[in-house]
Amino acid sequence: MSTDFRSQESDRKELGGSAPKIIVAIDGPAGAGKSTIARHLARHFGLLNLETGAMYRAFALKVLRTGLALDEWSAADLQRLAGETIIHLVPTSGENRVFLDGEDVTGELRNAAVTDAASRVSVFPPIRAWMVRLQQQMGSAGGVVMEGRDIGTVVFPHADVKIFLDAAPEVRGMRRFEQMGAGQRGAKAEQQPEEVIRELRERDKRDRNRADSPLKPAEDAVVLDSTDMTLAEAVKAAERIVEARLA
Ligand code: DC
Repeated sequence: MSTDFRSQESDRKELGGSAPKIIVAIDGPAGAGKSTIARHLARHFGLLNLETGAMYRAFALKVLRTGLALDEWSAADLQRLAGETIIHLVPTSGENRVFLDGEDVTGELRNAAVTDAASRVSVFPPIRAWMVRLQQQMGSAGGVVMEGRDIGTVVFPHADVKIFLDAAPEVRGMRRFEQMGAGQRGAKAEQQPEEVIRELRERDKRDRNRADSPLKPAEDAVVLDSTDMTLAEAVKAAERIVEARLA
């Protein structure tokens, strides 16, 4: 199990020379606007943006590529596969590029099959332990916005700023639907909004109820509910939360 972050320091310079060394943790369910907000905060405050979901997705892709159905995997087998896997996250000024065993798989991580598999592999404690370790290495120098499900609770419980983003499932589902190109809606290119919402609820349930580090706000997180906000308003609100902390 390993990863490679050689390019991070040069990215950090490109993205904002004298960036503050803070850690901003952004957690929340799918479709709450985490990626948009994290990307904006990174650009605005000169931080590295690290999307931890992309790491789970990359590993899920590796599992899917074996051709074995996910319910045929034991935790031990998954752990063995993880031991042969190198995930490399490259922050850029936009979304992260993700390398799986040296191959750029960024374009393959957002389809319905990988989305579902990522949520399933993320319930396995050895996989979580591996990911958490990698994420702690990546963020330990500070100057990062890290987004995921357990950043403020498990990965960086002492993060300087913790934001828990939420919104009603219907609102999140519609946002997801609108973001998805037909090519990302899985084999069924014409997936309807109701189906996107239903799948999102299933994922929510799995993420919130898993035994190991379930999705929940850290006690000291600022909860930002964007149900009645535009994404632009939520971005502004998040910016003010970080500014208040920096001040
Ligand atoms: O944020 P995302 O939709 O790309 O995440 C994909 C899946 O990965 C999500 O269903 C749960 C899992 N995940 C996790 O368990 N912990 C994280 N820190 C990030 C993602």
